Amino acid sequence: MNRRYRKTIIAGNWKMNKTAGETKKFAEELKAVMPKTKWCDVVVCVPAVNIPAAIKAFKDMRVSVGAQNVFYEKSGAYTGEVSADMLKDLGVKYVIIGHSERRQMFGETDFTVNKKVLAALDAGLHPIICVGESLEQRELGITMELIALQVKSALAGVPAEKLRKCVIAYEPIWAIGTGKTATAEQAAEVCTFIRTTVRHLYGARIARSITIQYGGSMKPGNAFELLGQNDIDGGLIGGASLNAGDFMDIINAANQD
Ligand code: 13P
Repeated sequence: MNRRYRKTIIAGNWKMNKTAGETKKFAEELKAVMPKTKWCDVVVCVPAVNIPAAIKAFKDMRVSVGAQNVFYEKSGAYTGEVSADMLKDLGVKYVIIGHSERRQMFGETDFTVNKKVLAALDAGLHPIICVGESLEQRELGITMELIALQVKSALAGVPAEKLRKCVIAYEPIWAIGTGKTATAEQAAEVCTFIRTTVRHLYGARIARSITIQYGGSMKPGNAFELLGQNDIDGGLIGGASLNAGDFMDIINAANQD
């Protein structure tokens, strides 16, 4: 983290978990342990159908609600899809775009990720853009090439003034839901590389101010070390964000000096 230049953001990605009732219960549990003052921004990305319940539940808590996906068209015959304006209208602030689960299971590509980023920004949402390599790609030694490609294509056509609204999350696929965390050095190496890539595209001032998260089996036991790295400005947390106590422990790890 480097709080002098950029925001620290701890975001939970609930994936396909929790009903509306469970969302309310989680918010009550989190409220009971959450201190009034905090240094980092807290976001919870819930399933689309539970967005209204989450907005209501987190209302007086300084916790922003995020979505996990968005479609890039404004409206029309796109059965099952949700537009950026619809999310904005509900009070959503952040939206995860290009999560590896969506790339692997739902056919998302760098091209659709870019269209979604542009649509989200257009509606005034903050995209959390996910990038990350598979184990095979890491072992082939092509991690950095792949990350550069994913970052550059996701940001194609994004003007500098809108880049400030973007968050980039480095999520190595081999560390997601596997209990296998990247070491702080591995995570920091790629996050620093992402910042360098942004610097080449937008210049040093903007690169210094963009929030770059790490995601992949982040939990109370490893959050402190990961968040202590200069270029890791927060976490995108799956499993450990489902438990209010664990999530709070990670938020506390982000409140370190
Ligand atoms: P886990 O924290 O469960 O590994 O999931 C990470 C993730 O995919 C967050 O988007």
